[in-house]
Amino acid sequence: MDFRVVAVEPGDEGLSVTWGGDRAPTIFEWFWLRDHGEDEASLDPATLQRRVDTFAIPAGIRGLGAEVEQDGRRIVVRWSDDGAPSTYSAARLAALAGLSAGDEVLAPKLQRRAWAGGSRPDPLPSAAFEAIMAGNAGLRDWLENIRVWGFSLVDGVPGTQEAAAELARRIGPVRETIFGGMWMLSAEIAEHDDTAYTTQYLAPHTDGTYSHDAPGLQLFNCLEFDGRGGESILVDGLAVAETLRAERPEDFDVLTRVSVPARYIEAGVHLRAARPAIRLDERGDFLQISFNNYDRAPFRLPKAEMMAFYRAYGELNRRVNDQANWLKVPLRPGMALIFDNWRSLHGRMSYTGKRVFCGCYHNREDFESRLRVTDTER
Ligand SMILES: [Fe+2]
Repeated sequence: MDFRVVAVEPGDEGLSVTWGGDRAPTIFEWFWLRDHGEDEASLDPATLQRRVDTFAIPAGIRGLGAEVEQDGRRIVVRWSDDGAPSTYSAARLAALAGLSAGDEVLAPKLQRRAWAGGSRPDPLPSAAFEAIMAGNAGLRDWLENIRVWGFSLVDGVPGTQEAAAELARRIGPVRETIFGGMWMLSAEIAEHDDTAYTTQYLAPHTDGTYSHDAPGLQLFNCLEFDGRGGESILVDGLAVAETLRAERPEDFDVLTRVSVPARYIEAGVHLRAARPAIRLDERGDFLQISFNNYDRAPFRLPKAEMMAFYRAYGELNRRVNDQANWLKVPLRPGMALIFDNWRSLHGRMSYTGKRVFCGCYHNREDFESRLRVTDTER
């Protein structure tokens, strides 16, 4: 929306800005305004890094006057501290007043859509390797799938680690971990003491509960499959969390408050982190689910709180393991699967025979960055 300023009125509290249309005016405090100028003295125009010395702004600063310019698209404020006048774009102020989505908001037009087994996306979100590699439109479709549904399949992927790495780099740098950057996953690999490197059933979980900054995305490319079973399981943590919030608010509250420690230990490695199973953002919206009972580390709480935690965690476990919430995908050579590890839980059915995957992780902010950038490049 095109926000324009029709009038500005200096006052004791700050600058009152009147918008076009029926909206109520917004008062921007003087100190805040002095700290947020978009003119060259306040903000580096190339890097958008702050130039104004926030800590040198007098506490009682106030503007001497203000004008509306450029047909309501810009305002200028003159200061009592002899600083150069500061300028502000109406669009930026409107976003900061909460009237519109700013550029920091992730894909404002792309709402996440919660799904369960009975409401699974049909057809399944999928993108073609060739289209993703060919240009931004294909890449954007892929990223939108991940944003909206929490996962996407990829078809036509060459069965090599190099192809998976090329695919991954369309989003951003591959994350280095104790497993490497690009890692191989099969029961034939003996170098990691983890259930993932077996043929056993793996209950749905998120990766990196033992990492302070759990991987944002996880990518698997199926290189080889000659056997039975081994379907990948996906569960929408967003749907599970929102159902819990609606049906069991007390359990939901416990899961957002109790910090759950996790660990990963093998020769020469001892990783540890802790956070609540469900994290919300500053608006109370779902942000992240962390759930891996295999990797949970011991912790104790006073009796009543401990039992409240076990009850809530058990409720979460029941829903995560309820097959009505599952999507089972048999990954075969030529197929890759990418998912949001802050939202989707993943697991695997047990299998016989040979199954070789390669995969990698991305940092959360690198995925979000690519999503923001391709929004304007398409
Ligand atoms: Fe995993």
